[in-house]
Amino acid sequence: MIKIKIFIDSSKLDEIKEAYSYGIIDGVTTNPSLIKEAMEDLKAKGQEINMETYIREILQVAKGTPVSLEVIGNTYQEMVNEGKRLYQLFNPVAKNVYIKIPVCPSFEENSENIFDGIKAVKELSKLGIPVNCTLIFTPEQALMAAKAGAKFVSPFAGRVDDFIRQQNKISFKKSDYFPALGWEKDDEILEDNGIVSGVDLVNQCVEIFRTYDIKAEIIAASIRNARQVREVALAGADIATLPFSVIKECLIHFKTMEGMRKFTSDVVPEYRDLIKKYDKK
Ligand code: G3P
Repeated sequence: MIKIKIFIDSSKLDEIKEAYSYGIIDGVTTNPSLIKEAMEDLKAKGQEINMETYIREILQVAKGTPVSLEVIGNTYQEMVNEGKRLYQLFNPVAKNVYIKIPVCPSFEENSENIFDGIKAVKELSKLGIPVNCTLIFTPEQALMAAKAGAKFVSPFAGRVDDFIRQQNKISFKKSDYFPALGWEKDDEILEDNGIVSGVDLVNQCVEIFRTYDIKAEIIAASIRNARQVREVALAGADIATLPFSVIKECLIHFKTMEGMRKFTSDVVPEYRDLIKKYDKK
């Protein structure tokens, strides 16, 4: 049993089905933006959408592995009610629902609901509902989430890299690689309050969780490219949740393809005939 798990970060049923068909996927993470993307795709194809049936299908495809469904409210009561409702409605389908709760649901620093995420994590966990605590950008947020009882904590690696580049006016494409050890500019390593990259955020969460034997699993989320998958695996993430495009990218290398072309063109008739002979049986 390989300990690092790979989830698919998607709400597109066709992608989820395809990824599961390869036998390498251990779970699904969704969020409102991913659901929006999936719905826009279906609408563009002129397809009718029944949200409830659609989610049930995702849960069936992922049977035996966790599927995270996110709440949409941003007060303690809304999140607890929605979490309970989502769990009661969907967990009976395949017994694999995790409720995703933002670590801090506030829009601004001086809001009154700063603690509401943690309170909701605590309450749902107390009720036996497994929680994936999301939108984590610091190890201390991960620590608070774990203390509140979250089963999964999701540090958003790619968005940390976005933030560091945005703060420093560095232009980039979403899939661009960001150095795990930090971006050097004018002889200094850029950082966000001691975090030098998304991989570093994951790494720091892992260190704290290992030091204190914290059982919550760390999902490296917001992953943008294959190299980042390698780096969060090296950092010791329990789980990496990957968009379909990144799962695909994990299989590609120029020399693998060049090697395939050479092996294919070198096949001698005797060897081909032998293999074909047994092909027919
Ligand atoms: O798992 C969280 C993820 O969906 C966010 O990804 O690429 O929008 O930062 P991204």
